[in-house]
Amino acid sequence: MTDLHVSDAIRYIGADDTTIDLFESQYPVPNGVSYNSYVILDEKVAVMDTVDRRAAEEWLEKLEAELGGRTPDYLVIQHLEPDHAGSVGLLAEKYPEMTLVGNAKTFSMLPRFFPGEWTPRALTVKEGDVLSLGRHTLTFVMAPMVHWPEVMVSYESDEKVLFSADGFGKFGALCADEPWLCEARRYYFNIVGKYGAQVQALLKKAAGLDIRTICPLHGPVLREDLGYYIGKYDLWSRYEPEDEGVLVAYASIHGNTAQAAARMKEILAEKGCPKVAMADLCRDDQSEAVEGAFRYGRMVLMSPTYDGGLFPPMDHFMAHLRDKTYRKRRVAVIENGSWAPAAARIMRGYLEAMKDIELCPTVHTIQGAVKSADVAAMEQIASELLG
Ligand code: FEO
Repeated sequence: MTDLHVSDAIRYIGADDTTIDLFESQYPVPNGVSYNSYVILDEKVAVMDTVDRRAAEEWLEKLEAELGGRTPDYLVIQHLEPDHAGSVGLLAEKYPEMTLVGNAKTFSMLPRFFPGEWTPRALTVKEGDVLSLGRHTLTFVMAPMVHWPEVMVSYESDEKVLFSADGFGKFGALCADEPWLCEARRYYFNIVGKYGAQVQALLKKAAGLDIRTICPLHGPVLREDLGYYIGKYDLWSRYEPEDEGVLVAYASIHGNTAQAAARMKEILAEKGCPKVAMADLCRDDQSEAVEGAFRYGRMVLMSPTYDGGLFPPMDHFMAHLRDKTYRKRRVAVIENGSWAPAAARIMRGYLEAMKDIELCPTVHTIQGAVKSADVAAMEQIASELLG
C-alpha cells in the first residue's frame, strides 16, 4: 500500500473495514471498504470527518499518534451519515474545547444522531466561507444531496487539496489490490447515482478550483491524472453510457428464461454487438446489475410472470433502476409466461415512467421452453436494439 498521507501536514487517519458484510446493510463489499478521515496539522488543528463507530478505536489511536499531545481545534463535519460521522460524539466528548464546523443543515441534523445542545460548540459555515488554520486555509463548498442534504466539501488552498466527501469514493478497503474504476462505478451508481444534477452542480463549482489532490471519504487519495476521475464523474452524472454494449438482465425460475437469455447473448454477439454483459438477477449482486445497466447504453430485460405479477428478483431490479433514476437508454423487454403472462406489462410500466427511455417496439412472450419462433422474435428484437 502506498503512503496514505497527503503531506507532512495533512495526515491520513482513516481505517479499513474488511469484516463488514454489507455496506449500508445492502451492498456486498468483498474487499471491504475504507472510512477515510484526515487531520490537518498547522497553527490550528482540524480533523476532517470521523469514521464509522466500527473503526473508532483504530482511528483514535492514529489521530492521537499524529497529534503528538496536541488537541484538535476543529472537527469539520462534511457529511453526517454514520459511516463518517459515527464517531462525532466520541471525539466531541474526548476534546470538550474542540469546535464543530458544519453548515446550518449539519447542525439541524446533528442532534438527531447525537442528542444534546451543540450550539455553543458550533461554527456554522456557508458557501464560500473560509477557515484559516495558519498556512492552510479551508474554503467550504456546499454540495447538498451528494449524497445527503447537509453535505459540503472543503478546499484547502495551500496544498490545493479537495476534501470531496462521498464524491470520488469507491468500495474496497485501501489494502485491497484492485483497480479504481469498477468498484468506483458500482459505488457511484448505487450510492450517489440518483443525484446526477447535484453532482453536476458540484463539478461546475470544482472546475473553478486548482485541485492537485482529491481526498474522498472512501477509497484511495487521488493524486495524479485527476482529469480522468473528474471525466468519469461528469459522464456518469450526465447519465451518458460509458461503454458500447448491451446488458442482458434476466431472472429465471426453472431455467427456461436463463436459456433464452444465453441465446439472446449469442444473437447480439452474432449481430456485431462488441460487448454483451449478463446479469442473473436471482444470483448475481443486484448492485453489479445496476452498475451494468448504467455502464451500457442498451439493455434487454427478460423475466417470467409470478403470482400474476413480475418475478420478484426482476421487480427488485426494476425498483432499484427507478430509484437510481435510470434514463437515456434503449431497452427491450421479453417475458415468459405459460399462462396469463403479465411480466412485460409491468416491466414496460416501470420503463414508461422513466426519463428518455426508448422502448423497442417488439415485445415477445415466451411460453415455457425456448422454441424456434422465440429465437426468430429475439433476432428481431436484437436488430431493433442495435439498430
Ligand atoms: Fe459514505 Fe453517504 O456516506
